Amino acid sequence: MCGIFGCISKNGNVAPIIHEALKRLEYRGYDSVGEATLYNGKLYIKKDQGKIDEVHKIHNLDDLPGNIGIGHTRWATHGAPLKVNAHPHTDCDEQIAVVHNGIIENFSELKLELENRGHMFRSKTDTEVIAHLIEEALKSSSLSLEEAVLDAVRRLEGSYAIAVVSTKEPDKIVCARNESPLVLGLGENAVYCASDIPAFLPLTNKMVVVNDGELVVLSPEGFKIKKISDASLVTREPKIVDWTPEMAVKQGYPHFMLKEIHEQPACLRNTLRLQEHYLDLMSTFLDRAREVFLVACGTSYHACLAASYMFSKLAFLATYPVIASEFVEQHGKSVNIDSTILAVSQSGETADTLAAVNCARQRAATVLGLTNVIGSTLTRVSRVYICQQSGPEIGVAATKTFTSQLSVLAQLALRLAKKRGKVSQDEMDFLAEKLESLPDVVEKIIETQEENVKRIAKKYKDAETFFFLGRGINTATAYEGRLKLMEIAYVPAIAYPAGESKHGPISLVEKGFPVVFICPRDGTHKTMVGNIMEMKARGASIIAVVEEDDDEVKGLADDYIEVPRGIPEVLSPIPFVIPLQLLAYYMAVERGHNPDTPRNLAKSVTVK
Ligand code: F6R
Repeated sequence: MCGIFGCISKNGNVAPIIHEALKRLEYRGYDSVGEATLYNGKLYIKKDQGKIDEVHKIHNLDDLPGNIGIGHTRWATHGAPLKVNAHPHTDCDEQIAVVHNGIIENFSELKLELENRGHMFRSKTDTEVIAHLIEEALKSSSLSLEEAVLDAVRRLEGSYAIAVVSTKEPDKIVCARNESPLVLGLGENAVYCASDIPAFLPLTNKMVVVNDGELVVLSPEGFKIKKISDASLVTREPKIVDWTPEMAVKQGYPHFMLKEIHEQPACLRNTLRLQEHYLDLMSTFLDRAREVFLVACGTSYHACLAASYMFSKLAFLATYPVIASEFVEQHGKSVNIDSTILAVSQSGETADTLAAVNCARQRAATVLGLTNVIGSTLTRVSRVYICQQSGPEIGVAATKTFTSQLSVLAQLALRLAKKRGKVSQDEMDFLAEKLESLPDVVEKIIETQEENVKRIAKKYKDAETFFFLGRGINTATAYEGRLKLMEIAYVPAIAYPAGESKHGPISLVEKGFPVVFICPRDGTHKTMVGNIMEMKARGASIIAVVEEDDDEVKGLADDYIEVPRGIPEVLSPIPFVIPLQLLAYYMAVERGHNPDTPRNLAKSVTVK
């Protein structure tokens, strides 16, 4: 996730306006920043790695000349957070500048093609191909900037919101959108394009939403929207937004956590755009290792636990999920050159995870990383790393982290299974198709079940304890549901593999004790029904997360939350965790707590 902004003003220089707008978009990413303006037929650019304030201190972002310009605040997905990879990116002659939010899936092919035709690339980003494609279109025929951008974006696969300026038409910004957000702001004496409303909200509350598959030409006179597919004109009336700046940053959601729960379909779509060669490389290391440890803390550990079932069931690889703070004690003496450590950390800075990684590195083990922050310590110490692609997570409780990490880990397990010849092509195709469908499945759960979960949270808001039970891979989902509820709603809770509950914890159960069952229709279903009966017999209130046609469990439950049917077992934690995230969120709200800032916790735990 990055933030883009563009502005054409009738009243003087735009650089300070862009700078301020980027500050308001900093929540979308902050590892590098850049601005480009046009003045007297020349393109002026300032950019560097670092947060906006740091870059401004060194370069003074405000003194770029011109009344038209674009800007960008970056959350790296392709290419390290270095100056050379900071946006805007330019063509060979530095006449065109582009800012981009999204992921261009086919950039490697396009880059090769462009390089073969003599284009010189400066960065490692996917974005730079856009500038060169526009350059070609402008040079090879007498196209306008608008037509050249149309030509270029028609060649792109993936997600993008872009803003483009060119010295050839110095009074225009051309933007386009597919799957990444883009809105226009219409002021008295200026027009704006941005990733999000907060960017221009202090300047105007008159806005226009740009839809997927649309291109926009901004000029001092206003805006024009066209369909990318057939260049037909679109008419759209501006709307007035009545959000406060604080509401706008949360896109109208009361809390970041709820916004981030709702972002999961988009994040999952992003995880499906990973570059294949990184998955290949990582699966090669996993394949060669004598032993594989999956090391992480908290939610990331729960993703590792679920992943251990994926690796085992799909690729027949035994892995050891280890809580990072225990790694040195448990394996510090035995880990060695034949061991591989896959460290999973949203922040890439968690001290316990890094301590485990350091110990492993000192003993010559191979370190692989899965993180959300390119440029974090974890990416620097990993032999290979993959980005979980979910953009900044601001709510302290990890939500989109869990599902994004699982989607990446599932792809890795599938890749390894293929390498090892452990799944048939039919099965591979089936699982790949199901993985592709997960963003829609998650969207449907949120759409159809949120009100139901809110009602359940109201009903159980005064419960003193909760019990979460799952089996197989969904033991991890149960642990994650418990962690969410404990950390933000402050409800003491326990979670167990369901089969273990009768070896002790069941003694806690008395009338009305809420027990949440994660109950997909997989190989564990029959025994789960038995566990539900055991709990019911002791007076527990059963809350079941079930597949929509599971009448048997619905009939036994006091309350149930439905998930679409037919999700393969190895992928099931992704949809099944969504109701539990919502439950924790609404329980926290019902109990009067702010879910975004739970007491005693920090987003990134950098002490051991
Ligand atoms: C739970 C939560 C924490 C983190 C843990 C690891 O909601 O946010 O448990 O999951 O501190 O953080 P990362 O993934 O950054 O290493």
